[in-house]
Amino acid sequence: MTKAYNGVAIMGAQWGDEGKGKLVDWLAESATSVVRFQGGHNAGHTLWINGVKTVLRLIPSGIMHKHTTCYLGNGMVLSPQALLSEIDELAKVVPDVESRLRVSLAVPLILPVHVQIDQAREALKEKRTGTKIGTTGRGIGPAYEDKVARRTVRLHDLLDEPVLTAKLEEMMDFHNFVLQGYLGSAAISAVQMRDELLALTPRLKGLMCDVSTELCAKLAKGEKVIFEGAQGALLDIDHGTYPFVTSSNCVAGAAAAGAGVPAKAIATVLGVAKAYTTRVGSGPFTTELMDDTGAHLAKVGKEFGSVTGRPRRCGWLDGVLLKRTAELNGIDGLVVTKLDVLDGLPEVKLCVAYEMNGLRTMTMPIGAAEMAKATAVYETFPGWTQSTAGVTQWNDLPATAQAFLRRIEQVAGVRLDVVSTGPERTHTIMLNPTF
Ligand code: GDP
Ligand code: IMO
Ligand code: MG
Repeated sequence: MTKAYNGVAIMGAQWGDEGKGKLVDWLAESATSVVRFQGGHNAGHTLWINGVKTVLRLIPSGIMHKHTTCYLGNGMVLSPQALLSEIDELAKVVPDVESRLRVSLAVPLILPVHVQIDQAREALKEKRTGTKIGTTGRGIGPAYEDKVARRTVRLHDLLDEPVLTAKLEEMMDFHNFVLQGYLGSAAISAVQMRDELLALTPRLKGLMCDVSTELCAKLAKGEKVIFEGAQGALLDIDHGTYPFVTSSNCVAGAAAAGAGVPAKAIATVLGVAKAYTTRVGSGPFTTELMDDTGAHLAKVGKEFGSVTGRPRRCGWLDGVLLKRTAELNGIDGLVVTKLDVLDGLPEVKLCVAYEMNGLRTMTMPIGAAEMAKATAVYETFPGWTQSTAGVTQWNDLPATAQAFLRRIEQVAGVRLDVVSTGPERTHTIMLNPTF
């Protein structure tokens, strides 16, 4: 029997921080459940609801609605300490957060050793080569490496002390060799890590769940489940600007495996992109603006990382990359955010092609080194003096802003469904209420 699935994936179509959190919160009004399926607390999703700011790192952005259940899926990597402190912080404003949160038994854990490796490796790379990836230093990469190496500790291991002890001993046998012999760091005690984990276990037990089975049942009943992407397609481990990427797949294709549901359960994919581009960390950025306009975007857009506080690099919207990430994700509807940040600029630009070795192309080069050879070909649009901040109707946008958005739609090759004109939940224009 064919089921009528109603999963909606909300994906970052750039290098992260596109405003996914705002969109998920806005859309969760009509969903029963929201699930994160990749990444960890490298993510930072900021919500503004009635003037109150909430920053979420691990907890899905649907949590602010009382009727939702929020899930952390097996495809994530989880720092138990980070989760519990985020819950404690959020409980001050959302007292029932813990009762509406479920964490996959199969999720791999981020342990102190992963954080130490991440940071020591970045320092060594910078010393040797003068560059680093610019990771968030949260242990994300090393935790995923241990998962693939089949030596990781998963959440369910906390329920079996002898297994946990043996796994940690085996893991640290390997890592202490690398930490001391290669990275020049101090060794870490397996016993200490185990004791810290066991101290948290009674509380974590209440959150543990077979997320995959629970979500499959909900989806089979036709419930609307939101799959909340973290990072963005250009940070995808396979399809991004490798090696300046994160360590998970951040495209819609990863949502099913990372939540443990059928691929066909995801009926709709929304791709979120800013009306310009930002990037945190190192790596090629063809449309980067190193001038006053770049500084203006950073200032007006408040472009500072919500996890690390690092300034985000800013530039014009890159249509070549947007077309690629739309294709990769199978985007049904495009969401353009932060239109208001462009207000008052005399002109705005959109990159519509790359010039590579004297030739024009619309194809994204593979790998960071090749990408660094591209120069942007721009179309220039007149700006608008009228404020778009907080506008909720398409017809209230200046004609010049409408023309810019319609050209983005054309270059990306996907329908424009939503425009965001401010950080508040309500600062949103819905063009096609089809999801
Ligand atoms: P995410 O990681 O994709 O969820 O995005 P972040 O929350 O890290 O970054 C987006 C930032 O832009 C947050 O501070 C949001 O409050 C803010 N934001 C989202 N949409 C808009 C918008 O349309 N206009 C403005 N001015 N800010 C927005
Ligand atoms: P959200 O979900 C922006 C970047 C880091 C670094 C690279 C690798 O808020 O959009 P990692 O710690 O993941 O190994 O770092 O990825 N990065 C993000 N940039 N938004 C994010 O998440 C990011 N998560 C990781 O800055 O360049
Ligand atoms: Mg973010």
